[in-house]
Amino acid sequence: MKPGKFITLEGIDGAGKSTQLAWIVELLRRAGLQPVVTREPGGTALGEHLRALLLDKSMAMHAETEALLMFAARREHLDKVVLPALHQGQWVISDRFTDASFAYQGGGRGLDTDKLEILEHWVQGALQPDLTLYFDVPVEVGQQRISQIKEADRFELEQASFFQRVRNAYLDRARQFPGRIQIIDSSRPLAEVKTAVEQTIQQLL
Ligand code: TYD
Repeated sequence: MKPGKFITLEGIDGAGKSTQLAWIVELLRRAGLQPVVTREPGGTALGEHLRALLLDKSMAMHAETEALLMFAARREHLDKVVLPALHQGQWVISDRFTDASFAYQGGGRGLDTDKLEILEHWVQGALQPDLTLYFDVPVEVGQQRISQIKEADRFELEQASFFQRVRNAYLDRARQFPGRIQIIDSSRPLAEVKTAVEQTIQQLL
């Protein structure tokens, strides 16, 4: 049996992840695969409860509480969804994973990267995604897109300066892990972004 691959999608809010997620699922299905599609925070019963708390705009919390809840949800997600699927040889696509904690809690909230690395090693050991697609857009583009889509959640209410720090942290991570993280310029027309995604996925297939 060929081992399954673990693909994660990242980007600031409004970067167009959801559209590209659907496209990746289609590409993998065409290749005869039935990927497990999941998300963070969430993906399990407990994780979805934690997600509701984390996104609730009336739920103020300390930045470290936020990070700990993200990693608590992740621990559950790995145990119940990601690892069992990978062990069975399935492909897993997760809408966000640990890079989001480094970008949002580290960059956005200013939490110490050393603390996040401790949580990362505690929760996932040496496990890393096989491929991370980081959808990069300027902050103004992301903010314009989210204002059109839906009511803002606790993160989406943040200022442009917060998202600028999140974006910078993602770009730093992409420079730090160039073999794993592919930057996709998501400010281009949709068809071009889809082509770039297809090329990247084909390399993995
Ligand atoms: P998101 O993935 O953007 O979902 P939707 O498309 O439904 O809005 O929402 C999840 C939010 O959680 C997003 O604003 C980023 C944030 N987040 C973190 O801050 N840290 C994390 O570790 C993860 C996984 C997500």
